[in-house]
Amino acid sequence: MPSLTEELENEIAKRRTFAIISHPDAGKTTLTEKLLLYGGAIHLAGSIKSRKTQRHAVSDWMEIEKQRGISVTSSVLQFDYDGCRINILDTPGHQDFSEDTYRTLMAVDSAVMVIDVAKGVEAQTKKLFKVCKQRGIPIFTFVNKLDHYGKLPLDLMDELENVLGIRSYPMNWPIGTDGQYLGVYDRSEKKVKLFAEDTTHGQTARIADIYDLDDPKVLERIGQDTLHSLQEDLALLDEAGETFDFSRVAAGDLTPMYFGSAMTNFGVQDFLEGYIRLAPKPMPRISTRGEIAPADSHFSAFVFKIQANMNPAHRDRLAFIRICSGKFERNMTVWHERTDKLIKLSQPQQFLAQDRQIIDTAYPGDIVGLFDPGVFGIGDTICSPEQKFKYADFPVFPPEKFARVSARDTMKRKQFVKGIEQLTQEGAIQLFKQSGAGAESYIVGTVGTLQFDVLEYRLKNEYNVDIELVMQPYEVARWLAYESGEPVTPASLKGVERGMFVLDRKDNPVLLVSNEWALGWITDNNPSLLLRPVPFDNKAV
Ligand code: G4P
Repeated sequence: MPSLTEELENEIAKRRTFAIISHPDAGKTTLTEKLLLYGGAIHLAGSIKSRKTQRHAVSDWMEIEKQRGISVTSSVLQFDYDGCRINILDTPGHQDFSEDTYRTLMAVDSAVMVIDVAKGVEAQTKKLFKVCKQRGIPIFTFVNKLDHYGKLPLDLMDELENVLGIRSYPMNWPIGTDGQYLGVYDRSEKKVKLFAEDTTHGQTARIADIYDLDDPKVLERIGQDTLHSLQEDLALLDEAGETFDFSRVAAGDLTPMYFGSAMTNFGVQDFLEGYIRLAPKPMPRISTRGEIAPADSHFSAFVFKIQANMNPAHRDRLAFIRICSGKFERNMTVWHERTDKLIKLSQPQQFLAQDRQIIDTAYPGDIVGLFDPGVFGIGDTICSPEQKFKYADFPVFPPEKFARVSARDTMKRKQFVKGIEQLTQEGAIQLFKQSGAGAESYIVGTVGTLQFDVLEYRLKNEYNVDIELVMQPYEVARWLAYESGEPVTPASLKGVERGMFVLDRKDNPVLLVSNEWALGWITDNNPSLLLRPVPFDNKAV
């Protein structure tokens, strides 16, 4: 019998927990499906999702997602490959993404950035990349849709450097001409991998024939011109390119880059295997007790997401925890930091492709869904009663969309307040009160407008409240303070009428304005005012 420490070290070494980040349509869903296909978690990749046939991804739990054919909430998928346990945390793919997306990135150890070969770096990729970079998460790049015409690999490398400020190290290199690639050259194995024709429309794993570069078969199959340009490209990469240094990957300065096509399974397996080899296992995390090592024998985890009503058949709320240290065991009792209470963790659930399963044990890096009777909030720490600490607070992400929200039927005020409070606690919305206004309405702030649809839908379906929602013409929120420490009041602010003065949940003053220009005016005319895009303590409000 291995000791607990040996068991933990063994399990931790196997874990790879990551999120896929991309702009909508780059192929995140398709790549996820194909990773599951290679992982053997499903038989037919297409069974997870095909928009055309109106079937839906496993992550499309909520009705609203189905209606729109998009993924609103993040999901978690787990599978085994080559002795490793892979946890993929899905991030919403719609352009109106939410704080959920950002928070998911708090729970991963690395990220895979999918880029459409024809489109290069797009708006949402940039935003998500920035969050990963700030958190110092290693980023792996998968350049997708290589079966199509697109930008040239060297141009894409330049684009990554110029737009995102990250250098790239191609792990493989496409062989052939744009749009008609025949295979890839694997730079670490120093092998040519030529793919057989895909006759199954990407429904089965694709077989590659593997050769040394100087094997006469290579010349025979790809021709003199292609071989020559491949040799030239490889020489250029070796001479002028980056050297591979994992410490730079870990620091977010260098990204291992893979070329492939998720749809036709071109390069997907190479990517998966390369990723497993290089990606970091769960690492220590900072707490009020200092760094907590994953192999610490005491259990600890934090809540990074709360999801209500995932399955209409079970009307429930799940709190998703990321295990950071120790061994999770069903029915264990843990200490809940925020309420200073002991909680028994019964009915833990894990996700394997389409099924939810009750699980008995889990290890650092794993994500577990806990039945939540309403005690958990985003960022909460749970840990062993013997240790009692708290993980670093989740940052608040600046809201960019605002609406005044009230119940249409004033008789339903109580349910309305309850629902709004609940959704705030879950972290779906940020709540503000207009200074001096009555309690009938709130100002709700979100990161994307889609969250207002979710708010409306959930208040109606879970609290039976119809709401009135009036969008406000503001896009910028600034938390306010005076250098002197004097309280900031509407009367003390010059130009307050150019925006809206509100209070956050902790009664901190916040000014909402329409744009950066209006903000500039406020700054110029209130010289001793300090303005921040997040609360001064940057803790959840
Ligand atoms: P997303 O989750 O990032 O939003 O993208 P998704 O995987 O849904 O892919 C967006 C579209 O791009 C889909 O086409 C998908 O089939 C296609 N796609 C994904 N990977 C590749 C690839 O390697 N090559 C090519 N040529 N296309 C790819 P769709 O027509 O919008 O939907 P569907 O009916 O195929 O599901």
